[in-house]
Amino acid sequence: MIHLYFVLRGRCSNTFNNCLFFRAQSLRMTDRILIIGAYGQIGTELTLALKRKYGPANVIATDIRVPDHLSDEDDSCLYLDVLNRRALDLAVHKYQITQIYLLAAILSVSGEQHPLKTWELNMQGLLNVLETAREHFIAKVFWPSSIAVFGHHAPKKPCPQHTVLQPSTVYGISKAAGEDWCQYYFNKFDVDVRSLRFPGLISATSLPGGGTTDYAVDIFHHALRNERYTCYLKASATLPMMYMADAVRAVLELMDTPAERITVRTSYNISGMSFTPAQLAAAIKKRIPGFKIAYQPDGRQSIAESWPTSIDDRFSRKDWGWSPAYDLESMTDQMLQELAHTMPTLPVR
Ligand SMILES: NC(=O)c1ccc[n+]([C@@H]2O[C@H](COP(=O)([O-])OP(=O)(O)OC[C@H]3O[C@@H](n4cnc5c(N)ncnc54)[C@H](O)[C@@H]3O)[C@@H](O)[C@H]2O)c1
Repeated sequence: MIHLYFVLRGRCSNTFNNCLFFRAQSLRMTDRILIIGAYGQIGTELTLALKRKYGPANVIATDIRVPDHLSDEDDSCLYLDVLNRRALDLAVHKYQITQIYLLAAILSVSGEQHPLKTWELNMQGLLNVLETAREHFIAKVFWPSSIAVFGHHAPKKPCPQHTVLQPSTVYGISKAAGEDWCQYYFNKFDVDVRSLRFPGLISATSLPGGGTTDYAVDIFHHALRNERYTCYLKASATLPMMYMADAVRAVLELMDTPAERITVRTSYNISGMSFTPAQLAAAIKKRIPGFKIAYQPDGRQSIAESWPTSIDDRFSRKDWGWSPAYDLESMTDQMLQELAHTMPTLPVR
């Protein structure tokens, strides 16, 4: 049956290929998921959610680093470098993968320190996954973009879905180019790749990995240790943010949406909340009255100034029913509650 599908698809027109009946997905009883970059900030929580949804045996979590809490013998953690195309092909073949979630990337702040390395990982990693998806008839791919695709010339409040993209960082450039590649692979090769332009993500279970919005996680760690926090952004630097539970739910909902309802094939704007460091500090102070903050803006402030302050996500709301559950107050409550449990296991910075 699978062989028949491959033969048919090879001879068919693109329109014919779009027919859901002929998608690989429909030929398999169970989805098998490959997560690349599974032990980063998003991967840590997304992997758990995907294991709950598809069953642990059907989710292959991979990364180039093994998290401390897993032993070397733990075969739920596999080494996979997304830049190694052959290893990627072998993994997809061996585990009969039907969906790929690509999370490996270098983020905005780290990217400015290593521009070419960032371009290589963010771009070649994505191209390797898109090519693998094309050749192996992968049913669906998820790849996150970022609000870093916008630059100084995009409207700031709210930033529309379709607008000028002139990113100011190598990270943003790689995401903007990646969005176009996703759309190209969908139009040209019928690869069903879906994407979200995430704002800054806030989570209690893992530390952020070198982005401009990391302060919104670090601040909680300092507050709970009764330490004063020195913020690298101005008190008034408004940025769009999202609590990780909302981000993970968004990925699952987008990936569950029937293909014909997805009208944005670059990457969807998605919104959670917007706040300044001063507003976040005030929300924390309400709960931890002794908390103190100082401001010492550095180079990250100029990156923040090139990003929008709020996001117009009407296409996400209309196409696949997006609605965030967390605002500043409920996110602050949840972070303080969760961190009280997880902080002892997280490395101190
Ligand atoms: N965290 C955010 O606030 C945020 C916001 C917008 C978009 N995103 C996007 O979401 C994705 C995941 O972000 P994150 O915050 O989890 O990043 P992260 O840095 O926390 O995690 C990335 C993971 O990829 C792994 N990795 C690095 N190089 C690799 C390689 N060659 N092969 C395989 N794995 C490799 C790392 O070891 C790490 O565990 C990225 O594409 C990022 O651009 C994140």
